[in-house]
Amino acid sequence: MNIVLLGPPGVGKGTAAKLLSEKFKLPSIGTGDLLRAEIAKESGLGRRAQHYVDSGQLVPDELVTEMVKARLLQDDAKKGYFLDGYPRTTEQAKALKEFTTTDKVLNFVAPKKTIIERIRGRGEGRADDAPEVILRRINVYEEKTQPLIDFYRNERLLFDIDSTMNVDGVMKQCIEVLSEE
Ligand code: AP5
Repeated sequence: MNIVLLGPPGVGKGTAAKLLSEKFKLPSIGTGDLLRAEIAKESGLGRRAQHYVDSGQLVPDELVTEMVKARLLQDDAKKGYFLDGYPRTTEQAKALKEFTTTDKVLNFVAPKKTIIERIRGRGEGRADDAPEVILRRINVYEEKTQPLIDFYRNERLLFDIDSTMNVDGVMKQCIEVLSEE
């Protein structure tokens, strides 16, 4: 079961991916988490990615695609995964299609006001949670990632999840979608 989680910053993708990972015993792979780990390690990739991540811009497609490809080749991802934060551009969606299949795309939907409140309420101290960077991330999402909604709708893989609900309500919807044939 290869599942992609799509949606704007702060909508709750990461939270749902981790809970779904526990429920379905498949890894949750968050590209933001992977990039932040590389930045913390000060690896070559981390050094190249840091400026983009901290300022709320997208890391260049080829860097992220290589990272995801390598991660999906690991043994624990062979039976499936919850991929959170990739693809984020049409180029990435096309690349993903070349190296693996996608079974379903969960499209997390909530108004801007809700996602801004959620990011402000998060206490992790991420550099990209600064108020001006939050707005840039939302703009980048609208410009680069939102077109993927149509991309995946055309592929008949898209399932909307009402992410204004509490975590239990969101999980219930995801599990229903994933349990359908
Ligand atoms: P990434 O880490 O993916 O950030 P994001 O997409 O902006 O998403 P967030 O982690 O902010 O939010 P989320 O939707 O996961 O919400 P969460 O569950 O945390 O990416 C960071 C950066 O990395 C990018 O800006 C870019 O630079 C780079 N990057 C990553 N992937 C890339 C790619 N493919 N290409 C290029 N660059 C890439 O929830 C938010 C808060 O709300 C939490 O406090 C949570 O507890 C709370 N919450 C969650 N669900 C609910 C609920 N149902 N009800 C109430 N509260 C809730």
